[in-house]
Amino acid sequence: PAISADRLLLFGATGDLARRMLLPSLCALDADGLLPETLRIVGTARSEIGDSEFRDMAREALEKFLPAERRGGMATFLNRLSYQALDATTLDGFVDLAEKVGPSTSKDGEGGLAIFLSTAPSLFGPTIAGLQHAGLTGDHVRIGLEKPLGTDLDSSCAINNAVAEAFTEDRIFRIDHYLGKETVQNLLALRFGNILFEPIWNSNYIEHVQITVGETVGLESRVGYYDDSGAMRDMVQNHMLQLLALVAMEPPTSFDATAVRDEKVKALRALRRVAADETVTGQYSRGAVDGEAVPGYDDELGKSSDTETFVAIKAHVDNWRWKGVPFYLRTGKRLQERVTEIVVRFRSVPHSIFEGMGSGMQPNQLLIGIQPEENITLSLMAKVPGLGVDGVKLRQVPLEITMPDAFVGQHRRIAYERLLLDLIQGDQTLFVRRDEVEAQWQWIDAIRAVWEEAGIKPKPYSAGTWGPNAAIALTERDGVSWHD
Ligand code: BG6
Repeated sequence: PAISADRLLLFGATGDLARRMLLPSLCALDADGLLPETLRIVGTARSEIGDSEFRDMAREALEKFLPAERRGGMATFLNRLSYQALDATTLDGFVDLAEKVGPSTSKDGEGGLAIFLSTAPSLFGPTIAGLQHAGLTGDHVRIGLEKPLGTDLDSSCAINNAVAEAFTEDRIFRIDHYLGKETVQNLLALRFGNILFEPIWNSNYIEHVQITVGETVGLESRVGYYDDSGAMRDMVQNHMLQLLALVAMEPPTSFDATAVRDEKVKALRALRRVAADETVTGQYSRGAVDGEAVPGYDDELGKSSDTETFVAIKAHVDNWRWKGVPFYLRTGKRLQERVTEIVVRFRSVPHSIFEGMGSGMQPNQLLIGIQPEENITLSLMAKVPGLGVDGVKLRQVPLEITMPDAFVGQHRRIAYERLLLDLIQGDQTLFVRRDEVEAQWQWIDAIRAVWEEAGIKPKPYSAGTWGPNAAIALTERDGVSWHD
């Protein structure tokens, strides 16, 4: 087993992600007694502040972003924190930083160092060089990388190469925060912890799969980043393809980093090149979300732009298991609802004995709700009670498991809690391996090239709807409706 870290070095420690997610997650872990007792956390960023100002900033962030009932260990947690200002583009500061990080605090002096880079990717290269310069890249050091890991395959390879100069792959932890979500991991439990699904999890029984990641927010405060990125690179390249891989992959031999990631990458590599008429892009215009008027994308941005805020794709996984089964993906900002869900639509029964009785037969469906609701619903056909004078009537009824009800007393965790704990403990199962990221980019780059060639520009859709009409047509022409 990997050596647990007793020091955590956080780059971008005053940034938005650190304040909203990382510090609250670490504090919550501390309150639950899950952090190593001697763990020290050193924050670093450009701001010229000292330890106490950093702790004040952290306290403020915790009070804002962590529910009061999970702040029990706040005083102990704040005591773990210290701070060192750093200009990551020059080597000089890294020696002082290494001094601040100091040697292992474990009794045997053999604790590891976990580093987390939550900075602009343009700083990854200089940061790695600085870490090398200051001797912070030895075998006991592992590094976590926050997205975006590039904007295409080439830039992603460049980042991966720079990191590989100093860290072996088994010490590189690429974050996709969707993998830290409880319900996403539950997908594995559902598929591989039950005998029921695996035998029918293939093209013989499954007609299509839908993956929706709908958001109601717009640009938020990430104007520059988002406009350079767009929905395809911001959401599909990472989160949606990871969800697809978990649905499509073959059963791994164990819940172990190599076994799980070997299977995911095979699924990703089996993705077929998408044709122009299998994608739809959109950009939101003025509309209303949750009853409130909201401006269009261009107005929010302050200029006109061709960046897509919505994507729908009909994808295919070209292998024996999934031949001919479409995977419909859609994601967008300023949609009608914030919802992440996976729908598995099964085929109709091969022969209905109720035909001609006004029976109302419908195919079975499995809905996996990831957020905001965490639930699993299996739609089954049942007989409508009655004497059936005019024939047996059937109706679809839900068999539903609501996770919070099934596991009363468990609080909902922030995805980063799981991931930061795994980084500290050195478990890579829920992190993305280099070959996965590259397979993801390869597929995305090919789609973007198709857009470019075909001159595809985003179609406008009103904020508060489910995207452009063309996204509806994308499934309707196959006789399929998006799950509502
Ligand atoms: C991030 C994207 O990776 O995921 C954001 O950059 C998006 O644009 C966010 O809003 C969605 O995450 P979640 O956990 O709220 O679904």
